[in-house]
Formats: sequence, structure tokens, C-alpha cells
Amino acid sequence: MKIISVSNVKGGVGKTSTAAILSAGLTQRGNNVLMIDSDPQTNLTMCFLPEPPDGTPSIYHVYADGKSLDEVRTSIKENLDLIIGDFELCNADMQFLKAGRLKMLCKAIKSIKSDYDFIVIDTPPNLGILSLNAFLVSDYIIVPMAADSFSLKGVRLLKQTLDEVTEETEKAVSVTGLLLTKYTNRTNVSKLLEKSINSAAELLGTKVFSSRIRQATVLQESQVAKVDLLEYAPKAPVTLDYQAFIDEFLERIEV
Ligand SMILES: Nc1ncnc2c1ncn2[C@@H]1O[C@H](COP(=O)(O)OP(=O)(O)OP(=O)(O)O)[C@@H](O)[C@H]1O
Ligand SMILES: [Mg+2]
Repeated sequence: MKIISVSNVKGGVGKTSTAAILSAGLTQRGNNVLMIDSDPQTNLTMCFLPEPPDGTPSIYHVYADGKSLDEVRTSIKENLDLIIGDFELCNADMQFLKAGRLKMLCKAIKSIKSDYDFIVIDTPPNLGILSLNAFLVSDYIIVPMAADSFSLKGVRLLKQTLDEVTEETEKAVSVTGLLLTKYTNRTNVSKLLEKSINSAAELLGTKVFSSRIRQATVLQESQVAKVDLLEYAPKAPVTLDYQAFIDEFLERIEV
């Protein structure tokens, strides 16, 4: 079983979209997959489900009540489950930032590890307690980067945080690859970003995936329809971009 986090301190770079489509793609390739919506914005949940009523078992109950993941999971389709997100986690840093609280997700995942081939975690655009819990439990971290919101400072902060987590917990946590999203080769912004993203990869000791994800409105349409992109538009160029990325990712981690 492999655990993957999708993370970037910048907002709106395609973290949630990548987590959703990667999960669907891993399922399509015959794996049993669990998604964890660890962002209080609950966007990953909203990619698949209407807003659940208050009190529906969620990731909040894992953090707040110590529930195990098998008590809170929801089935999305065959071989694809979801731990739904929760706005209640908006002040998670205040609520749970005590000693030992870095390993809450580690503990919760233990009971269901053998049920899945992959667990994919969507994280919020910050380096708070929810992201730290995700980093600590992850084997791989994918960092999406978008042409319109690149920040080298954000990359430096991510690197610093990963180094601190590694030092404190003696578990090496590193970035598996940077993924260029919302790409359009018509704009100079995307071309300029390619240079910056290579410097960012060097700083993080990783490589940029050669697959790029183009900007395409069909992706937003699929999210509004609450159907994963691979099913919604299997032949769309952006879907093929994501499929190529998933193959490249699996090659990189040698699965
Ligand atoms: N390749 C793409 N083409 C067009 N729109 C995209 C693409 N990727 C993401 N988007 C859109 O951009 C917006 C932000 O994407 P997404 O929610 O995946 O980013 P995020 O990094 O998870 O954001 P946040 O930091 O707020 O959690 C969404 O409306 C999404 O539909
Ligand atoms: Mg998101």
C-alpha cells in the first residue's frame, strides 16, 4: 500500500483536481483506492458528492474523536472510497496542535492499510497541522504548480517544513515530483514558469514530470457534474494529459 499526498502552499494550483483524477486513474488501472479530503474547504468531497448534511462522519471525527478510518469512509464507486472533508477542521491548528498530534493520521490509517493499494490525500494550501499529518504518513508527495501563481518562496517554505518534519520524526519526507498544471504554451507566463519550476525542482531535490496538464474548461465541467474527468471526457486532451502523468508517476515510483 502506497500513500500519496498532493500539496502546495499556493492555492488554486490544481491540488484537488490532481488528487481526484489521480485517484480515479489508479482505480481505472485496477487498484483499490481511498481518497482522504484533508482540506477544510472540502473541494475534493464536492468533486464527487453534494454537500453532506452536518454531522455526517468525516475526517473531522478522526481528528476530534479518534474514530478509525473504516468507520467514516464512503464508497464512491467500485474500488474507490472517500473520507469526506469537513469545515469543522478550519481551526484544526488551534484544536489539535499539541505534542504527538503530528501522527493522528498515521494512527488512523493503520487499521485500513491492508484494504487499499493506494491512499491519496488532498491537502489545504498551507503548512498547518493537516498538511503535516499528511506529509508524515506519505510515501510520495506530488506538488502541482500552475502558471498563474508560481511562488519560489512557497517552495522554499515547503522544503524547510519537509526538512523539519524529517528531522523531528526521523522519517525522510521528500517530494516525488512537480506537476505543471493549467498549462498553455501560448502564453509567455507558462514558458517563463518552466524556467522557475526547474529551479524549484532543484531546490526540492526532485524532478518536474515531463507530462504537463493543459488548461481546459472540460475539467471544471466534470467537477460541476460530480463525475471524474476520466469518465466524463475520456478522450479530451486534458484527460490524456492526466493519463500520461499517472503512467509517468507509476513509472517513477516503479509500480
Ligand atoms: N487543468 C485545468 N484546466 C482548467 N481549470 C482547472 C485545471 N486545473 C484546475 N482547474 C480549476 O482551477 C480551480 C482550482 O483548482 P483546484 O481546486 O484543483 O486547485 P487547488 O490547488 O486544490 O485549490 P485550493 O488551494 O483552493 O485547494 C478549480 O476551479 C478547478 O476546476
Ligand atoms: Mg484544493
